[in-house]
Amino acid sequence: MCGIVGYIGERQAQQVLLHGLEKLEYRGYDSAGIAVFDGQAIRVKKKLGRLANLENTLNGHGLPGVLGIGHTRWATHGRPSDANAHPHGDCTGRFVVAHNGIIENYLRLRQELIQAGHQFRSETDTEVVAHLVESLYDGDLLRTVFKVAAKLRGAYALVVMSAEEPGRLVAVRKHSPLVVGLGDEENFVASDIPALLNYTRNVYVLEEGEVADITAKAVHCYRLDGTPVSKEVLTVTWDVDAAEKGGYEHFMLKEIYEQPKAVADTLTGRLSDDNRAVLPELHWTLGMARGIDRIHIVACGTAYHAGMVGRQILERLTRIPVEVEVASEYRYRDPIYTDHTLVLVISQSGETADTLAALREARARGARVVAVTNVVGSSVAREADDVIITWAGPEIAVASTKAYTTQLVALYLFACYLAQIRGAADPATIEEVLAGLRDLPDAVSKVLDTAPAMKAFAQQFAWKESAFFIGRGLDYVAALEGALKLKEISYIHAEAYAAGELKHGTLALIAEGVPVIALATQDHLYEKTVSNIKEVKARDAHVLALTWTGDEEMASVADEVLYLPRVSPWLAPAVVAVPLQLLAYFAAVERGNDVDKPRNLAKSVTVE
Ligand code: M6R
Repeated sequence: MCGIVGYIGERQAQQVLLHGLEKLEYRGYDSAGIAVFDGQAIRVKKKLGRLANLENTLNGHGLPGVLGIGHTRWATHGRPSDANAHPHGDCTGRFVVAHNGIIENYLRLRQELIQAGHQFRSETDTEVVAHLVESLYDGDLLRTVFKVAAKLRGAYALVVMSAEEPGRLVAVRKHSPLVVGLGDEENFVASDIPALLNYTRNVYVLEEGEVADITAKAVHCYRLDGTPVSKEVLTVTWDVDAAEKGGYEHFMLKEIYEQPKAVADTLTGRLSDDNRAVLPELHWTLGMARGIDRIHIVACGTAYHAGMVGRQILERLTRIPVEVEVASEYRYRDPIYTDHTLVLVISQSGETADTLAALREARARGARVVAVTNVVGSSVAREADDVIITWAGPEIAVASTKAYTTQLVALYLFACYLAQIRGAADPATIEEVLAGLRDLPDAVSKVLDTAPAMKAFAQQFAWKESAFFIGRGLDYVAALEGALKLKEISYIHAEAYAAGELKHGTLALIAEGVPVIALATQDHLYEKTVSNIKEVKARDAHVLALTWTGDEEMASVADEVLYLPRVSPWLAPAVVAVPLQLLAYFAAVERGNDVDKPRNLAKSVTVE
């Protein structure tokens, strides 16, 4: 997501800001900008694309001054462009703001500010903050920021500076991280520690709802109601590489642990108080929604598995026939479209060549295309008719984790949304899914506690030649995703089977000690799955079963049992995914593999 850097002291701010932004590049971004106070006024330079583009613009036209803020933007509201890049200013140029996160009520605020005569230059939610500061400024930037924050809804980190008070930066943390770097006659603020490590190892980590008033000589912290807070200095002992990973050994592990937040972010603003799925980004008429008579879901790899879950929930809730297919096959199959076929493409990166080609084929054939993607401004997002963004934040490890769970969330929301506007085929299941979605961040957080158990299991089986994943219904889809994860980073041969299909051939491969991971979260299929576990046990397989807490039977059937916090079986794939990701991760670590960059694979597959 976006990166923020702020500096006040005696050095030339531009160098500090650019260096800090470079250290935040790992977070992913599409444009960058800096604002520096030159003694008279605030000067701003912003550029679409890599930081190098901004640096080239500054070459020979640098911004002198010792107070400044910088930003790398990961587009959310408004496409990536020079104008939408941060920092953003007010009408007078006296105030500038850098922001990470989302201001949920920005549309209403923007309308109010426009009515009051403010002129906007970007499509961003952030710009409302600069204009609010301008309209509420009372001679004291800190006091003004308290007043502004009281008007904002959403998750954000903000850094504000003003030409009226050039000795000061004010920073606010509400859900999005911020750290203050403590120097000698200089201070810093940034979204993450790597941006600071060149200058200081002493930091204040701002907590939820805290505000920092930063001058060159001192940093004072407050709660949003103005109560002073005394902070403890944290001395950072990690190196830069570890700091980028937030102290985790690998990006994959960090991203696994980010899932409760990623899921919560993807749900933000999309569940109404009267229990409806809200997707204002779909510009649909009722007639269009009601007219859809078949759905094609197209994606690759992990996104395809999300699509397989999507098919089951969409068919159950809408009774529209759904096909799901990998994009590399779909694009050459000459699929059959009706006049009202909807095509749903799913892609984390939004750049996967086969998925993009499938999207183009579908549009050329007259189908309406909805994209589920994690990257605003990606090719898929630009070319689709409608876009549902997953707010997972940048995913750096090649193995997809938080992108997958957020794709599932987007698909659950989409299915409920479509079912609700068409007149639900199954209102009870919609209610169950929506209630489950509300609790999902918590369930995903709890299931992370399975890490020690998955580590122990992974260490036992890391050197086996092959492993089997079995399940029925949605557990079969979860098994496919578990097997893919294990293959791609541990290089263990792993296969997933619909549990009932084993005896039609694959059972021949089950022998003494062969690891079988059995998923048993689908209550209506539980007994059948238990029978299939008994079949592999009878061939001396070593079975790890994943089932709900409270299952009293499984311990007598499987060799090992992992108990999961209970959620609606419809949402089980989002919960089961986490221990299976951990299993793959720990097996890969045990084998000494390059977890984040597995052999032969790329994060974004932009070739056929
Ligand atoms: O960016 P996309 O979602 O389109 O990528 C699709 C697949 O390449 C991707 O999910 C891949 O399977 C992952 N590496 C799996 O972890």
